[in-house]
Amino acid sequence: MELLERKIMEEGRVLSTSVLKVDAFINHQIDPVLMDNIGLEFAERFSGSGITKILTLESSGIAPAQMTGLHLQVPVVFARKRKSLTLNDQLYTSEVYSFTKEQSNEIAVSHEFIEAGDHVLILDDFLANGQAALGLLHIVEQAGASLEGIGILIEKAFQEGGNLLKNKGVRVESLARVASLNSGRVQFAEKVGA
Ligand code: G4P
Ligand code: NA
Ligand code: NA
Repeated sequence: MELLERKIMEEGRVLSTSVLKVDAFINHQIDPVLMDNIGLEFAERFSGSGITKILTLESSGIAPAQMTGLHLQVPVVFARKRKSLTLNDQLYTSEVYSFTKEQSNEIAVSHEFIEAGDHVLILDDFLANGQAALGLLHIVEQAGASLEGIGILIEKAFQEGGNLLKNKGVRVESLARVASLNSGRVQFAEKVGA
């Protein structure tokens, strides 16, 4: 997606060979016009999939998920990372291991909000090792719902997540695919060898 790639080039910062900082428009400050365009793009890509629900993970997945939900006219559910006192005990849960943080976190979604008849689109801001996506996929499976695909804003194509999910037969739509962050530069996948 041209607009997102341009934003990354202009306002993203390469922190290391594996980390891209996008606090200026996704992870801390949010660009609502960009999010609206992202929502429209996902809505178009998944328009034929009969999506009934969008599932994301707090916190950075919520903004793009909400905009996608607006354009598809379906509800957005976000998995919580800590069990809230007001969630009842009827929860689907999954363990998500973060290689970055070297720790495991439990994520949870109430039984109320994903049902067996749902056609689910999973959304998240980053795809790195794919552990968050697998955790969300596990929740969809527990609910007996159908997974229609996974939408990602920024896939770090040099990490394992994309292949892991595609090898499971999951449709993955990434709006920007970063092939490399070497030498302090963002190189997009489509442009490798071009
Ligand atoms: P994985 O789920 O794909 O295995 O990724 P990982 O455990 O490495 O990710 C941990 C957190 O770091 C996630 O956010 C993820 O979105 C984020 N992340 C991964 N790679 C990058 C990167 O290159 N740049 C930035 N800015 N973030 C990255 P989180 O802990 O769930 O936080 P939140 O922002 O959703 O609250
Ligand atoms: Na994040
Ligand atoms: Na995230």
